[in-house]
Amino acid sequence: MAGNSLGSNIRIVSFGESHGRAIGAVLDGVRPGLPIDVEMIQKELDRRRPGQSKVTTARAEADRVELLSGVFEGRTTGTPICMLIWNTDQRPQAYEKIKDMFRPGHAGYTYMAKYGISDYRGGGRSSGRETAARVAAGAIAKQLLEHKGIRVIAYTREVAGIAIGSVDFEEIEKNPLRCPDPVAAKKMEELVLAAKAEGDSVGGVVEVIVQNPPAGLGEPVFDKLEAELGKALLSIGAVKGFEVGNGFVAARLKGSENNDSMYVEETTGRVRTRTNNAGGIAGGISNGEDIVVRIAVKPPSSIRKEQETVTVDKKPATISVEGRHDPCICPRVVPVAEAMVALTIFDHLTRQQLLRKTTRLRDLRDTIDQIDHNIVLLLFERLAIVRQIGEVKKHRGTKIGDRKREDEVLKKQLAVARDLGLDVEFTRDLFKAIFQLSKATQRKGKDHKAR
Ligand SMILES: Cc1cc2nc3c(=O)[nH]c(=O)nc-3n(C[C@H](O)[C@H](O)[C@H](O)COP(=O)(O)O)c2cc1C
Repeated sequence: MAGNSLGSNIRIVSFGESHGRAIGAVLDGVRPGLPIDVEMIQKELDRRRPGQSKVTTARAEADRVELLSGVFEGRTTGTPICMLIWNTDQRPQAYEKIKDMFRPGHAGYTYMAKYGISDYRGGGRSSGRETAARVAAGAIAKQLLEHKGIRVIAYTREVAGIAIGSVDFEEIEKNPLRCPDPVAAKKMEELVLAAKAEGDSVGGVVEVIVQNPPAGLGEPVFDKLEAELGKALLSIGAVKGFEVGNGFVAARLKGSENNDSMYVEETTGRVRTRTNNAGGIAGGISNGEDIVVRIAVKPPSSIRKEQETVTVDKKPATISVEGRHDPCICPRVVPVAEAMVALTIFDHLTRQQLLRKTTRLRDLRDTIDQIDHNIVLLLFERLAIVRQIGEVKKHRGTKIGDRKREDEVLKKQLAVARDLGLDVEFTRDLFKAIFQLSKATQRKGKDHKAR
């Protein structure tokens, strides 16, 4: 099966290529009626966009997102949300010189081995450009999680061997490395620019934190939460390692050092842990502590420095990759990693909501708000049809208000109410009020037209 989609209940399909007309994503499974801030999607894309600073590629794509479906008047409709981003700054001629050679570390040879054909212009589907589609879809997941008080934050933790010494979230967007430690950020920047000047590149580590997740996310055994997060993050180009909590460090600790002691928090009655070496996941299920994961990002392979390679027809060759490439991908991977984690957490949240009804007051109230909102939307829809019927009646000269029809509707709906065990008198009163409103709406429409 082709691997262009991810997720179970909330499913993303990504499409498009670096030098095709456009790239985009379809996000399926999102409930209707949820508020969507389109500007926020654009802001997330602007964070991933190339040409932001000296430490990233100079490709100058505006990356304007177009919402083709699934959102109406700022709310989801429940149908697939399709988002499109046009490719506007392609320079295929930059790849002309190396079109018959494979770039070491890039996907040209393996794509050729698999498909028998490979788009040399910017790596085609293997290009980092594809990740704009993920960021657009992830921005939707991110904002819907935020409505539930769950926040996903990523930052550069290490670049070219320089690691952070402190974490201040306020600092992340203030430097080109997206690093929470301004002192380390300066050193990292110097090393990235030095590598760039030598025609080389550097790698690093990006950390992602999910704040305030509920306990219970993750589906053992094959869909354990860390397995799902690992897959989502390792699917990003140039990501070569994944760890959760203490990760590889845990291999060098004793049980007594690595275990997180447990206690009951007095104010909330919640089971908590004193440390978070597990990174918020145990047995493949979130335990309610912050989820902490890390990815290793390799130095990008497209470098000016000369390297040994082979041509498409298997002749030895020397390659130097010119053009606009990232000397360090970490700052651009940050929004992509947030998107992939947000999509995974959002997917598992909906899976958990189907498995077990929540008892958290805030979640219950959210659900009530959603139902109330749907009631109003349905009423709006009903009145729109009532108006259409009014027009037809006016055309035919039929009188407004049809007692026989009202009795039929009432009989049908009261039978349903009785079956469900609902209060029949309340349902009768509700429909009588709806009939009154409908007749008044039709009359108003008629008067309005007459005026
Ligand atoms: C946001 C982003 C930007 C990227 N920019 C570049 C780049 O400018 N040059 C490059 O060689 N690779 C870049 N990559 C990495 C390649 O896409 C990736 O290395 C390539 O597809 C080979 O796949 P692999 O590294 O996962 O094996 C970028 C990746 C991402 C996520």
